Amino acid sequence: MIKLAHPIIEDDEQQAVLGALRSGQLAQGPRVAAFEHAFAEYVGVRHAVAVNSGTAALHTALLAHDIGSMSSGGAAEDEVIVPAFSFAATANTVLQAGAQPVFVDIREGDFNIDPDAIAAAITSRTRAIVGVHLYGQMCDALAIKALCDEQGIIFIEDAAQAVGASFGGKNAGSIGTGCFSLYATKNLTTGEGGMIVTSDDAIAERARAIRSQGERTRYVTDELGWNYRMTEPAAALGLAQLAKLDARNERRRKNGARLSELLANNDRIVTPREAPGQVHAWHQYTIRVKGGREARDRLRSALRDRGIESAVFYPAPIHRQPLYERLGYSDLELPIAARLAEEVLSLPIHPALSEDDLRSIADAVNSVTSPND
Ligand SMILES: Cc1ncc(COP(=O)(O)O)c(C=O)c1O
Repeated sequence: MIKLAHPIIEDDEQQAVLGALRSGQLAQGPRVAAFEHAFAEYVGVRHAVAVNSGTAALHTALLAHDIGSMSSGGAAEDEVIVPAFSFAATANTVLQAGAQPVFVDIREGDFNIDPDAIAAAITSRTRAIVGVHLYGQMCDALAIKALCDEQGIIFIEDAAQAVGASFGGKNAGSIGTGCFSLYATKNLTTGEGGMIVTSDDAIAERARAIRSQGERTRYVTDELGWNYRMTEPAAALGLAQLAKLDARNERRRKNGARLSELLANNDRIVTPREAPGQVHAWHQYTIRVKGGREARDRLRSALRDRGIESAVFYPAPIHRQPLYERLGYSDLELPIAARLAEEVLSLPIHPALSEDDLRSIADAVNSVTSPND
């Protein structure tokens, strides 16, 4: 079986976790502080605040910016513009903060939020824009940040899938308030985990309070907070993984380039491209299958028959999820998100793949013909 994701935890990474387990301190402590320090340095910002999921990172970032009725300074009317094509957490966290998600369409070329659609969706209630760096390639973050600054709106980067990516020389997470996921299948993992990054001292200070019951002093709750703290074994693993991130991302890049080479003559699919100025983190290698859902699903089952795992990220835009339909978004039409949900298929690209694996994947994709052939 060629798996879609394969977390690599080498000896030194295992030893780091054992060291934490043997240290006598399991909850947030010196390893979390060291991991935060190293992560902030890696991204090139002043602060990193470790939490226990990417969802917690997004939720905390929104609250720290006083967005939504669950924050100390926001309101239920606050609107947050999000791309319709993402993992549900991108919008769920807006609801969790007590604000209103406003879904906009994406661009066909890079699957990311369309800056023109953002500009058209801004109202007097818009408080923030969440730009997702889908599959590991950054959205048009510099243009979106400029728009946000012009309008007095907060820019949050959902960099859950994009650790190690950059655009125009700026690292993912360093343009807005950056939120990362360190989930098991991500390029850098702590099992479950997340990180908020910012150079704004006040936002970092608030995020630290919100992740721990709103406490600034032990047992003094200043504002509403949660338990979003990271554990020491998780941080030990994260710190050890961070040292290997660039090398592992480079393997992903090579694997992606090799797959694209092997798939170059296949005119039934569109292979992913790194846009000019982008350094793609290649979290996912996502092709588009011409012919829509039926052709895509046929290819997926042919790959399964040959022992190759693939996945559809995501089978429906977020506003088509039952929760959002019930909340009143069912009439919203976002055609590009709707079409790409029927065409996308992510193939294995992880760093543990061999040349034989890559050939098997490409052979399997190339062997599937259309029903008219
Ligand atoms: C785009 C995006 N946003 C947010 C999240 C949430 O992260 P987590 O699963 O760590 O809570 C994910 C996780 O996969 C994601 O892909």
